[in-house]
Amino acid sequence: MSQQTVNGDAFENLLHEERRFPPTPEFAAAANVHEDIYATAAEDRVGFWAEQARKYLTWSKDFDQALDWSEAPFAKWFVGGEVNAAYNALDRHVEAGLGDRVAIYFEGEPGDTETITYADLTERVKKAANAFESLGVRKGDRVAVYLPMIPEAVVTMLACARIGAVHSVVFGGFSADALRSRIDDAEAKLVVTADGTYRRGKPSSLKPAVDDALAEPGHTVEHVVVVRRNGQDVAWTQGRDLHWHEVMEAASAEHTAVGHDSEHPLYILYTSGTTGKPKGILHTTGGYLTQCAFTHSAVFDLKPETDVYWCTADIGWVTGHSYVVYGPLVNGATQVMYEGTPDSPHQGRWWELVEKYKVSVLYTAPTAIRTMMKWGRDIPDKYDLSSIRVLGSVGEPINPEAWMWYREVIGGGKAPIVDTWWQTETGAIMVAPLPGVTATKPGSAQVPLPGIAVDVVDENGKPVPNGHGGFLVVREPWPSMLRTIWGDPERFKDTYWSRFEGVYFAGDGAKKDDDGDIWLLGRVDDVMNVSGHRLSTTEIESALVSHEWVAEAAVVGAVDETTGQAVVAFVILRGEVEIPEGDDPSAVLRAHVGKEIGPIAKPKHILVVPELPKTRSGKIMRRLLKDVAEGRDPGDATTLADPSVMQQIAADLRK
Ligand code: WTA
Repeated sequence: MSQQTVNGDAFENLLHEERRFPPTPEFAAAANVHEDIYATAAEDRVGFWAEQARKYLTWSKDFDQALDWSEAPFAKWFVGGEVNAAYNALDRHVEAGLGDRVAIYFEGEPGDTETITYADLTERVKKAANAFESLGVRKGDRVAVYLPMIPEAVVTMLACARIGAVHSVVFGGFSADALRSRIDDAEAKLVVTADGTYRRGKPSSLKPAVDDALAEPGHTVEHVVVVRRNGQDVAWTQGRDLHWHEVMEAASAEHTAVGHDSEHPLYILYTSGTTGKPKGILHTTGGYLTQCAFTHSAVFDLKPETDVYWCTADIGWVTGHSYVVYGPLVNGATQVMYEGTPDSPHQGRWWELVEKYKVSVLYTAPTAIRTMMKWGRDIPDKYDLSSIRVLGSVGEPINPEAWMWYREVIGGGKAPIVDTWWQTETGAIMVAPLPGVTATKPGSAQVPLPGIAVDVVDENGKPVPNGHGGFLVVREPWPSMLRTIWGDPERFKDTYWSRFEGVYFAGDGAKKDDDGDIWLLGRVDDVMNVSGHRLSTTEIESALVSHEWVAEAAVVGAVDETTGQAVVAFVILRGEVEIPEGDDPSAVLRAHVGKEIGPIAKPKHILVVPELPKTRSGKIMRRLLKDVAEGRDPGDATTLADPSVMQQIAADLRK
C-alpha cells in the first residue's frame, strides 16, 4: 500500500466542471425515490436499512436486530432473520402471478436466442438444486463456477443459493492455474463448466482448463458438470465428469426453498490485492440482497413492469453478481444477457441488441464507452436507441468526454447517467447520483447513497474540506459489506480496517469539489508524486483523452532521479484523425496536458502505442506499463486479455 500522502496540491488543478444536468420534471415525478430519502436515511440509518430489508425481500423468518456491530469489523446484519435468495429471485414472482414475465432475453454470440420467463427460470433452478444435491452438495459446501455468459451460469448460482451452497465464480478468461488456486482456497466440491463458448465468431474452450486445473491430485473436487455450449470435443474423466443436460433431465422439478440464516455465506468472489494471492471476498445473504435490490431500484430507477434492463458485465465479476443476477432478479426485472464481444460480428452489435429488445436501462463500463467512441459515432447512429432512459457507468472513473459522448450519442442527450462507485468488497453501489434527484456532473460519482456513510479523509483520517482530496473511506457498516476474506480474517482487518481507526479504507483516492460532490481519482497506489506535487493518473489521462486525437490513455509514475517520479503516458490515437504534416503528437499532447491541468502535469514522455495492456475485465494494467516506463522487463503478463500487447509495446520502444 502506498504510504504517500494526498494533499491539496493536485486537486487545485482538477477540471472545473461547470456542466449540470438536472432530471426533467417528468423523470423526477415518476422516479422510484425522491429527495426526502436522504433525510429519512440520515435520521435513522440502521432503521432505514431495516425498512429496505423488509420492503425488498420476503423473509422466511423476520429478523430481531438490524445490525450487530459488537465484534467490529465483523458485521452481522438482520440478525435472527432467515431468507432464501433463490426464493426471492424466483418463486415469489411466480407465486405473485408473474411467471410469464420474461426474466432473461438470452442472445448467444452466434445469434442463437432464448427467451426465459420467471416460471422457466424457477423450474430450471429447482432442477439444478436437486441435481446438485444428488451429487452430494450440501449447505455450506463450495461450488466453483467456470462458465460463459449463458443462462446456465445464472441457474447454477441461484441453485447454489437455494440449497445454501456457496458459489465461487471464476471468470472464464482466467487460466487453469488461477482456477486451481481458487478451487483450492475455497475447497470446492463441485465445478460447473461448459465445453466452451464463442469469442469473436470462433469457438473458445473452457473444459480443457478445468481438466488442466484438476490434473494434479490433492484437490477437493468430486464432480465436474459440463454444459454443452459450443459442441467442441472435450476429454472426459469417467466417474468425475457429468453432462449438464443429463443430470438436469434426471432431476425432479419439485424443490422447496427453505430460509437460510441472514448471515449464511452466499458466495466467495476472488479479487486481486496489491500483491500476492487473490483475496476471497465473502458475501452473506440478507444484507447483501437488501442493498443489491435497493440500489438496483433506486439508482437505475428500475420499473420491473416496463423496463428492459441490460448490464453488460460478465458473471465472473462482482457487477455480474449484483447487477445481472441478484439485484435484477430479486426485483423481478426483465433483462438482456449477451454471451459475446461487442464487435462480433460487427461493431454495432450492442446497439443492434438495444434496438431489438428496446433496452431502456443500460449499465456498462467507461472502457467500453471509450472503445465505442474510438469506433466512431456513425455506428450507434445507425440504430434506434430511443428506448434508452437511464445509463449507468461502473468500474473506473469516467472522464467527462466519455461521459458527454455517452449522454449525447447513446442517451440521445436526455437519459440521465449514473456513475456508480463501488467495489467487489462493498457488494453493491455506494456512491452514485439518484437519476430523479441529482443534477448530474460529467465525471463525478457525486453523492453517497442514502444510508451510506462515505467520506474523504486526509492522511490522519480527518475529513477534508470541500475543494480538497484524500482517501475514500466508509465510516459506518453497510448491509452488503464484505464480511471477511475467506480463510483469512487477519488479512481482512489489515487490508481494510487498519489504515484508519474504525473506518473502512477503500484504497481509492477521491476529491470533494466545491459543492461537496465526490470525484474518484483512481487507486491511491496510482497517485504520483512529481517534485513534491501530487498528481493523479486519472486526471492526466482525462486531460489526454480530452484531446481530439486521443482514443485512450494510461499514465504511470516512473521513478525519476530528479523529480521523484515522472509522468509517463501511453496513448492510443483515434483511427480517423489526420495529424497535420510536421506535427509531433507527443509534443502536441504534452502541451495540451499543460494547458488542461498545468505545466507540472505535463508527461515527461508520451508514447504512442497500438494497444494498452488490459485485464480481461478491461482494467488497464499500469503495473506493466510502469515496468516498461522504468526500463524493466515487464513481469507476469498472463492475466492480460491479450498477452502479446506488452511485447508489441516493448518492441515499439526499442525502435
Ligand atoms: C474502481 C467494480 C471510479 C475503484 C464494481 C474501485 C471506480 C475499483 C468506479 C473496484 C467509479 C469502480 N468511478 N472508480 N464509478 N467504480 N471503480 O472490485 O478504483 O472490480 O476501488 O468492483 O474500481 O473494482 P471492482
